[in-house]
Amino acid sequence: MKIITDITEMQTRCLNARAAGQKIAFVPTMGFLHEGHLSLLREGRKRGDLLVLSIFVNPTQFGQDEDLDCYPCDFERDQRLASECGVDLIFYPDAEAIFPPGYATYVTVEGPLTTTLEGACRPTHFRGVTTVVAKLFTIVQPHVALFGRKDFQQLAVIRRMTVDLNLAVDIVGMSIIREADGLAMSSRNVYLSESERKQALALIDTLSLSSGMVKDGERNVTKVLESAQQRLHAELDLTIDYVKICHSQTLEEVDTIDHESVMLLAVSVGKTRLIDNGSLLC
Ligand code: PAJ
Repeated sequence: MKIITDITEMQTRCLNARAAGQKIAFVPTMGFLHEGHLSLLREGRKRGDLLVLSIFVNPTQFGQDEDLDCYPCDFERDQRLASECGVDLIFYPDAEAIFPPGYATYVTVEGPLTTTLEGACRPTHFRGVTTVVAKLFTIVQPHVALFGRKDFQQLAVIRRMTVDLNLAVDIVGMSIIREADGLAMSSRNVYLSESERKQALALIDTLSLSSGMVKDGERNVTKVLESAQQRLHAELDLTIDYVKICHSQTLEEVDTIDHESVMLLAVSVGKTRLIDNGSLLC
């Protein structure tokens, strides 16, 4: 496994691999790897001849009051985990290399896909994500790139960008990996105190409660959302950013639940922001 920090070196290696007929599988991350990331890497290993992992804490996707400066990192541990998953190249650039002085180009997916849900709470977030992912795609030139459904809206936005820009990358969406008690794995879970960690289980509890209602025949969105909100409000340190039921492709809110409906939640537990989602009728 090689660690590459230089953009030109990375691009050259990937172009050479392509020219030699190798299929490149790519997993972009911000590091501090957990089982969620590793599931993408294991699938990437199966799908590509050259498996590339990027670790880059992308400043442009953090808002001013967000946790960029204290985002968790442990590069040595990440290297060990990556090597265990069979990663061939880790791309590990610094922020100055990706966004040098004078940098002025951004990729924006416009419309409801980026202005609702996370986009409403974090107005510059998706512009940062699509810009860095477009840059990473240009550098790594992957045939296939793997993303988690944990960030459901991010996956939809990246799919849109890939189609709109005619990027020849196959985007693969992977299932949410959870802790044994159901909390979706996230690098940010380390911020939670013991009591907050318990309260964070309200997310999976709400998703289970809601899909239970739907399985029992409830299709009315207002009723399911009322009970979801009630469940979340039971936690002392939890504030709701949003809890919505949307169409899984367009992310537009729906009135009636069907097989395409997904519940998306964002809450803060103490100072930690957590997101989760799940289909309601599968
Ligand atoms: P990061 O939060 O590090 O996540 C990297 C990838 O891992 C994303 O595709 C995310 O959806 C996936 N992932 C995270 N937690 C997961 C879980 N519990 N189960 C399955 N997959 C999970 O998402 C980003 O970084 C950044 O926005 C990035 C795409 C790298 C652009 O900067």
